[in-house]
Amino acid sequence: MTDELLNHPGAPTGDVRPTASYTLRVNGVERPVTDAWIGESLLYVLRERLGLAGAKDGCEQGECGACSVQVDGQLVNGCLVPAALAADSEIGTVEGLSGAGGASDVQQALADSGAVQCGYCTPGLAMAVHDLLQRNHRPGEVEARQALCGNLCRCTGYRGALAAVQAVADAREAALEAELDAAAQAAAAGPAAAPPAAAPPQPDHGAELPLYADSELWHEADQLIPAQPQGETPRTGGYAYPPTPPHGTPVPADWQPAPAPAATDPFGTTTYQDAGPYDGTVYATDGYGTDGYGTPYPGYDATPAHGIRLPEDENA
Ligand code: FES
Ligand code: FES
Repeated sequence: MTDELLNHPGAPTGDVRPTASYTLRVNGVERPVTDAWIGESLLYVLRERLGLAGAKDGCEQGECGACSVQVDGQLVNGCLVPAALAADSEIGTVEGLSGAGGASDVQQALADSGAVQCGYCTPGLAMAVHDLLQRNHRPGEVEARQALCGNLCRCTGYRGALAAVQAVADAREAALEAELDAAAQAAAAGPAAAPPAAAPPQPDHGAELPLYADSELWHEADQLIPAQPQGETPRTGGYAYPPTPPHGTPVPADWQPAPAPAATDPFGTTTYQDAGPYDGTVYATDGYGTDGYGTPYPGYDATPAHGIRLPEDENA
């Protein structure tokens, strides 16, 4: 894009908004954009000018992540990026994930894990999971939650998406190991006896993944979360956490929800104030044994028996 392209002769009379013509490279394909106001967002141009409606328009404020796309390998909110500034960049959208037309392993895992209800958040989630697994082939629970914390889902919650991250990581790791084993066996057998090169194993989309919501398989989702240490755990300053009760132990009745604004976060975390023997200590619990921001600690677990939701846990 150059300055002489602004305020081009074809602009409507009286329209003082600067326009430009440029080319976006989307999923490896050059896509010309002609006479576009330079303030148009990448999300708008992708959807309205180029017909790529995979990225969704949720909030247009960078809050929901529904518009997530990659620009030069960085996950961005398309609603916040002026499209004209992305003219020299490689843009990746959810349409580019599926390759030959089938769902990618990430998209399939999201579907298999029950992470999709209305599906409005799903393209953004798929891009976020894809981006995470490009950067980190074996993300932990905390890293996965941090990576997805900018993608809001108002229907399903996040357990399915977190399970999908681990399922794809497992499948890719297994595929890579099988490929390396096959290569090692071929090398050991010698060039004459080497079998013809086989296609690399594909991720197992049929692998059992936990379904979601009110299912006996909830328990399986919980298995993906590392067990928290039991008993007294030293804490900075010599303080000690209380012993960890078994999973599913209700929050003590004398714990009161902390006053706003610390009551919940986008994951539905509820913060509790211990009014018991540990007066003054704030415990945040989200059913994962973390502090609500992904840091594991042995706290109480607000998740009741599987399939039953606490009214304040909107993420359940
Ligand atoms: Fe871009 Fe919500 S539409 S973050
Ligand atoms: Fe509806 Fe996520 S499935 S917003």
